[in-house]
Parts: sequence; structure tokens; C-alpha cells
Amino acid sequence: MQSKLSKSAMVAAALTIGVQAAPASAEDLSYQQVTDMLHVVMDTDRSVYTKNVVARLAAKEKVIKASEYFEDDKALPLPAQMFRFGAEGVADKTDAFSYSLLSLWPINKQNAPKTDLEKEGLQFIVDNPGENFYGEEELGGETYFTAVYPDVAVAEVCASCHNGHKDTPRDDFELDDVMGGVVIRIPTDS
Ligand code: HEC
Repeated sequence: MQSKLSKSAMVAAALTIGVQAAPASAEDLSYQQVTDMLHVVMDTDRSVYTKNVVARLAAKEKVIKASEYFEDDKALPLPAQMFRFGAEGVADKTDAFSYSLLSLWPINKQNAPKTDLEKEGLQFIVDNPGENFYGEEELGGETYFTAVYPDVAVAEVCASCHNGHKDTPRDDFELDDVMGGVVIRIPTDS
């Protein structure tokens, strides 16, 4: 019973991350499988922070606000800021991979695409809702596997906050629109 349960849990996890068959060892994982797994963790952590912290304490219990100016306002950082702080922390710790939340219409100019492949990938996920983008790029003499995952307006408030923000270059986001994407990059030389 025990083993049956855990096996079906493994199959469910494999299906979620799009793994066809369980790899024999970690060395058999493709770059795509690795970025897909990283993305599941990032996406889940972001939802947990949004739901269990921001929505609960700010929207429901009204104990504390969430604010872009969280330091001055003594408030909670926005989910996108938490995500960026995590990405910056990872960049300080390892060169094995890097990630960011980017958009063709960023509120924070730091979140604009910088490479041709990032632009292509962000456009692809806007044009092909529900699909991810995978590619390879060469930057500064290094080759990278780069994956781009859609970031969707899952709630009305995603669109309304962005549309009304003073720094937004776009003010017609609607529910379910792809607003940007998570870019995960792994160097393939080493
Ligand atoms: C209360 C306002 C607010 C809400 C709600 C909000 N955002 Fe944002 N979002 C921001 C701000 C401000 C930034 C810039 C954060 C930074 O400094 O990196 C941002 C950043 C982003 C970015 C990176 C590109 C950019 O615009 O800088 C994406 C993509 C994004 N948000 C998507 C979403 C999605 C999807 C939701 C809903 C699940 C959402 N946002 C909810 C304010 C908001």
C-alpha cells in the first residue's frame, strides 16, 4: 500500500513536470527537465507567498499591507519583489543557473528582456498561450540553455495593479493575459 501510494505520487510529480519516463539517475536529466523542475518550485513558492501570506494577511485579515515601498510603508514586499530578491540571492550563491521574472511591458525597467532569445521567448509565450519556450543562446562566449515560462494574470488584481501603475508601459492587461515570463538559464559548457 505504502509503496503503491508513493509510486503514484512520483508518477503524478513526473507528469506535472512533463517528464516522459523516470530517469535512471540524475545524470540522465535533460536541461529541459531541470528547468521544468526548478520552475515548479519557483512557481509554487510564489503562489504560496501570494496566497498564504499576502492574500491572507493583507487582503483577508487586513493585518498588514503589501506595498512596492514596503520598507517605508513597513509593509510586505509584493510577490514579484520577493521573487526578484530570491533570484538575486541565488545569483550571489551559484553560477549553475540563474532566473528572473521579465516582461515585454515591465513596470520595473530592470525586468525588461536583455537578450534576443529572451525577447523571442517572451513574444512566443504571448503568441502561444499555455506553451513554454526553450532555446539555446551564446552570451559572452558561453552557451546557455534558456527556458521561458508564461506568467499569467491569474487574478483580476494582477491586471488592475499593473494597468494603474505609474511606471507601466501598458494599461490594457486583462484576466488570463500572459503578462510576462520566468526565464531560467543554465550554462551548458561546464
Ligand atoms: C499591488 C500591485 C501588483 C500586483 C497585485 C501584481 N503586481 Fe506584478 N508587479 C508589480 C510591481 C510594482 C512590479 C515590479 C517589481 C520589481 O521591482 O521587480 C511587478 C512585476 C511584475 C512582473 C515583472 C515585470 C514588471 O512588470 O516589472 C510580472 C511578469 C508581474 N509583475 C506579473 C504579475 C502577475 C501575474 C500578478 C498576479 C498574480 C501580479 N503581477 C500582481 C505590481 C503588482
